[in-house]
Amino acid sequence: MKNQRSVKEITYHFGGKVVIVTGSARGIGRVMVKGFVEAGAQVVAADRDMEGLEKTCEPYGDKVAAVISDISNPSDANKIVDLAMDRFNGLDVCVNNAAVAPHTALLEERFEVWDKVYASNCRGTFLMTQAAAKAMIKQSRAGRIINFSSGVSQRGSPGTAAYASSRAAIESFSRVAAIELAPYNILVNTVSPGLIDTQPKPLPKNMAMNLKARIPTLPLARPGEPEEVANVVLFLASSASSYITGAVIVVDGGSGIGIRLTNSVVDDDPRYFWVTGKSCSS
Ligand SMILES: NC(=O)c1ccc[n+]([C@@H]2O[C@H](COP(=O)([O-])OP(=O)(O)OC[C@H]3O[C@@H](n4cnc5c(N)ncnc54)[C@H](O)[C@@H]3O)[C@@H](O)[C@H]2O)c1
Repeated sequence: MKNQRSVKEITYHFGGKVVIVTGSARGIGRVMVKGFVEAGAQVVAADRDMEGLEKTCEPYGDKVAAVISDISNPSDANKIVDLAMDRFNGLDVCVNNAAVAPHTALLEERFEVWDKVYASNCRGTFLMTQAAAKAMIKQSRAGRIINFSSGVSQRGSPGTAAYASSRAAIESFSRVAAIELAPYNILVNTVSPGLIDTQPKPLPKNMAMNLKARIPTLPLARPGEPEEVANVVLFLASSASSYITGAVIVVDGGSGIGIRLTNSVVDDDPRYFWVTGKSCSS
């Protein structure tokens, strides 16, 4: 079968646009920085991990400005937006990708960890959305804000009480932001990935065991690639999505709708023989 993932029919043009990507020291964030730079944008790449951030930015020279920052801290959120304004003279797109997802059993959850998850995942997205929107409004330029959720926001997944609920909060927050910022031509959408291949390599033992059991049950029987999420973010940042706001775009290979079909569909329920025309002998 042809690998659909390697086919690139769409080329985006972000020349003259300024984009912030938070959480860009690894994973989906790193790939989004690459995608935006290759499409001609100037990018502010933000993360609290200096080493990873340097690795992300190194190939792109002055097209990318890196900023070590913790988005849960109000002055750092402002610092990220100020850097876009000062270095690149504007801000068009803010991608609030940074988040943490530690897993803990509910009965062992500690409020200190819970608060840290919410500080990064909720307060951070709020602070970045507010700072970015204020800058966009001040410069009278239409804008895009793209927030991140997760498939676990919609289903019960053990160990994710803090993470899953913090991601669900972002969907709700983004709907409010979309309504309040629409008069300024700022569109706010949320991307909700399923399982994406960003986990540390080699995989920690427990994570390896869980993924080995889970991956065959995914409708496409594979994790998504970070590029497959970045593609959707580029679309949401582009003029092609000019009538989409307040939406949650799911990028999960179907994992939110069901599990992979592993045997053929056979209806041998005798209650419906009168419907299907089957009989006990067929
Ligand atoms: N990978 C998946 O399977 C998956 C599934 C569903 C949703 N998501 C969502 O996609 C996004 C990216 O996921 P990923 O797997 O690439 O994540 P990742 O853990 O690989 O990378 C996240 C980056 O964000 C940074 N970060 C976290 N908190 C920060 C803070 N307070 N300030 C600054 N930087 C901070 C980290 O240092 C890290 O570099 C997240 O919002 C996540 O919730 C991922």
